[in-house]
Amino acid sequence: MRRCLPLALATLFVTGCSSRRAELYQDPTAPLEARVESALALMTLDEKLEQMHGDLAIARRGLSGTADNTRLGIPGFIMVDGMRGLGVAMGKATTFPVGAARGATFDPELEELVGQAIGAEARARGANVLLAPTMNLLRHPRWGRAQETYGEDPWHVGLMAEAFVRGAQREVIASAKHFALNSIEDTRLTVSVGADERTLRELYLPHFERVVMAGVGSVMAAYNQVNGSYCAESTHLLGDILRGAWGFDGFVVSDWVFAMHDTTASAVAGLDLEMPVPVYYGQALTDAVHAGRVTVAVIDDAVRRILRQKLRFGLLDGRPALAPQAVGESAAHTALARRVAEESIVLLANLDGTLPLDAATTRRLAVVGALASQVNLGDHGSSDTTSSQPVTPLAGLQARTAGALELVDLGRDVLTPDDLAALASADAAVVVVGLTAADESEAMTGTGDRESLALAPAHEALVAQVAAVVPKTIVVVEGSGPVLVESFVDEIGALLTVFYPGVEGGTALAAVLFGDVDPSGRLPFTWPRAESQLPPFVNDQPVVTYDLLHGYRYVDAQGGDPRFPFGFGASYTTFSLHDLRLDAATLAPDGTLHLSVAVTNTGARAGADVVQAYVAYPGSRVTRAPRELKAFARVSLAPGETKTLDLDINARDLAYWDVATGAFVVEPLTYEVAVGHSSRDLPLWTSFEVAP
Ligand code: BGC
Repeated sequence: MRRCLPLALATLFVTGCSSRRAELYQDPTAPLEARVESALALMTLDEKLEQMHGDLAIARRGLSGTADNTRLGIPGFIMVDGMRGLGVAMGKATTFPVGAARGATFDPELEELVGQAIGAEARARGANVLLAPTMNLLRHPRWGRAQETYGEDPWHVGLMAEAFVRGAQREVIASAKHFALNSIEDTRLTVSVGADERTLRELYLPHFERVVMAGVGSVMAAYNQVNGSYCAESTHLLGDILRGAWGFDGFVVSDWVFAMHDTTASAVAGLDLEMPVPVYYGQALTDAVHAGRVTVAVIDDAVRRILRQKLRFGLLDGRPALAPQAVGESAAHTALARRVAEESIVLLANLDGTLPLDAATTRRLAVVGALASQVNLGDHGSSDTTSSQPVTPLAGLQARTAGALELVDLGRDVLTPDDLAALASADAAVVVVGLTAADESEAMTGTGDRESLALAPAHEALVAQVAAVVPKTIVVVEGSGPVLVESFVDEIGALLTVFYPGVEGGTALAAVLFGDVDPSGRLPFTWPRAESQLPPFVNDQPVVTYDLLHGYRYVDAQGGDPRFPFGFGASYTTFSLHDLRLDAATLAPDGTLHLSVAVTNTGARAGADVVQAYVAYPGSRVTRAPRELKAFARVSLAPGETKTLDLDINARDLAYWDVATGAFVVEPLTYEVAVGHSSRDLPLWTSFEVAP
């Protein structure tokens, strides 16, 4: 891809860029803000306005980006999606498990590697902005893009997204999306999400604040409205909170095509960049400036924010490109995708040790269902990827068993009498069911939101049919999140969810089924018995209301009994928690509590546990969720091994938003901390005070 050489180089080599004497902005050793001001001072108004919109010529090439300023040697942006891998616009890429699967790893260190890998693949193809991570809270699992995000809890989503951003930004600028409260597909372009200030500050925004504090270069304004204002023109979201309270100095980009509605309103609110082509910016913004509706100061601020990130990320400083073959679908990235898939698979039920399968005694293994041999990497919307050799469940099992046992391929959803006869002699059956892009997806490119949480009747019937014949029936669910399993969960031997597990999904599944790898994924959302256990999902109304309770917060407040709670996942081994200690009984309102807990692998196999700490606020002066996740740590343990984990809890993260004063307040209270393996399995308990 042709890029304009930085001016310092352009003066030495003959290029399409004009030559000038060296200016301060061209000096990589000069202070960042001085460079920004130097570049801005040299730009004409037209050049400034050109920084603020996507370029039609790039769009015509099927890409997204902004124009190079060849006169000054300021490259434009080249942007690409990258939630589970580099977007299809840039060719083949390593396809990682989707965000929901990566959320299930509860492993920010691993997520940082994923962020860096996707960032490197983007950079190798000439992109400098990665349109990821998707980090909206999973308000309800019927959301069509549920697969892209990390889960329902803001603390957990924040840590995972921060890790992704840290990794990705070693290579390119990340764009955290979609700011904010974007968690319905069918009405996403127009819906107004109502949320009071506590709901915003305590639940729907803290994870965005975390990535801003971690230095994310860009934030994408969502399509929807919040409290009656489109996000791309919300002075409250973009002005008061993002730039005001959090001090964000990166640029805000519009979501594609339909996010903006008014030139002046967006410019004044601080929407810096319209993508992918100028509709409300470009000529319309030029006119608004000439008519005095938008001041040059507003334009200067937007351009400063854009230039700041271009300079910060070395776009003007001749950073060498990575060779595409060095990173795209490399062996290292494929191995990483496999490790992520292995860590993300959640074992939900395992009756009488159905799993792991014993390779010595399993002679005939039936593999059932059309999805067993179908490539199912997720949505075909903006998170879509192109992958060379995705491993299906059947292919993974074939490779793992390689002639050592008989695999009976029943890769269809409607079984014939011959199939049933073949099943009768199987020692075990793996039935793959669940969701595809035809069931859940981004709106405009597919179905949108799920119609219900039910599994397709054909899949329920298939499971029942197999379970009636094969005692060791292992059901593997693909998809973004929960499906209702009540009709068969007590009739089968084992249940796992693999999400959309990426290019190495089948390999990882086979490794888990045969016990080469301990299943160590934990649910990053609540898995209900019935949809009535969750708050209503309203995806056909112009206005919806979000409040402080959804997911486990809602189920806990209702006293409900979910099928599988948030944070749950079984293992082939067992873990015991002991010796919970706090380093102090009293915490200062701006302090950090150090909590330590020992975990022992009490079983006979190696495994990984995810230890979780939840805080409760008995006697709080405001309504709170019964308990909230405030710390977690993943740990791998050999049989009999014990490790002590350190979990920190910041007082600031226990605060509520005080509506009267417009500030966070850490209440003087006796806080309870419960520690365990899920939001409902909390064997250890202690408490501490925050002094007045
Ligand atoms: C999606 C964004 C995406 C953009 C560019 C939009 O429709 O909502 O997530 O980054 O398209 O593909």
